[in-house]
Amino acid sequence: MKRTRLVITGNPGVGKHTSAKIIAEKLGADIVDINRVALDNSAIARKTDHGLDVDLKKLGNLIARMLKSKKDLIIVGHLAPYVVKPADITMVAVLRRSPYSLQDTLEKRGYSYSKVRENTSSEILGVSQYDAIKAFGKRKVAEFDTTEKKPDETATEIMATLKKQLRRRTGIVDWLSLVSDENDIQRFFEY
Ligand SMILES: Nc1ncnc2c1ncn2[C@@H]1O[C@H](COP(=O)(O)OP(=O)(O)O)[C@@H](O)[C@H]1O
Ligand SMILES: [Mg+2]
Repeated sequence: MKRTRLVITGNPGVGKHTSAKIIAEKLGADIVDINRVALDNSAIARKTDHGLDVDLKKLGNLIARMLKSKKDLIIVGHLAPYVVKPADITMVAVLRRSPYSLQDTLEKRGYSYSKVRENTSSEILGVSQYDAIKAFGKRKVAEFDTTEKKPDETATEIMATLKKQLRRRTGIVDWLSLVSDENDIQRFFEY
């Protein structure tokens, strides 16, 4: 059997780490936390007001070495499209979440006004989905809406898709229409 390499990506706050932990436990897999790997190797990353400033090339090499592991791996982080080689990957789960609940989560985390705006607007436009498809190809990518789900349900859905019991679907959400219908476009894109 080929070793599983599941990537979980998406904007900060969509539920990546929570889902990854549940799936890792159920599959007996290890988690490769991309941000953690970057921070633990201070030569390639430093924290700035804007987040992590990372040497993507060095980080990519480091991750590639970790992917040689004999264990099943879950690779977590929004930097995945820039540091993981498509050929090494079984499936890419892009987690999506309504900008309204995402805003709540990020505000509770204490993110600054501009950082919340930066992340909710990128979620509305679907940047993480676009980046994942561009880097890994449409066939490897599946999207999951975590908005009205419990972490357990999301984990179950991702695992069923990984086992090919569920079809890999993309284009499942349309936040732009949602915020447009609510007359909130201005609010979300204002800095
Ligand atoms: N369906 C879901 N799947 C995963 N996390 C969820 C879900 N619904 C709510 N959450 C909550 O969302 C919050 C952010 O999750 P987290 O895993 O830290 O996100 P990320 O790693 O993407 O930044 C957590 O408080 C988590 O419990
Ligand atoms: Mg996280």
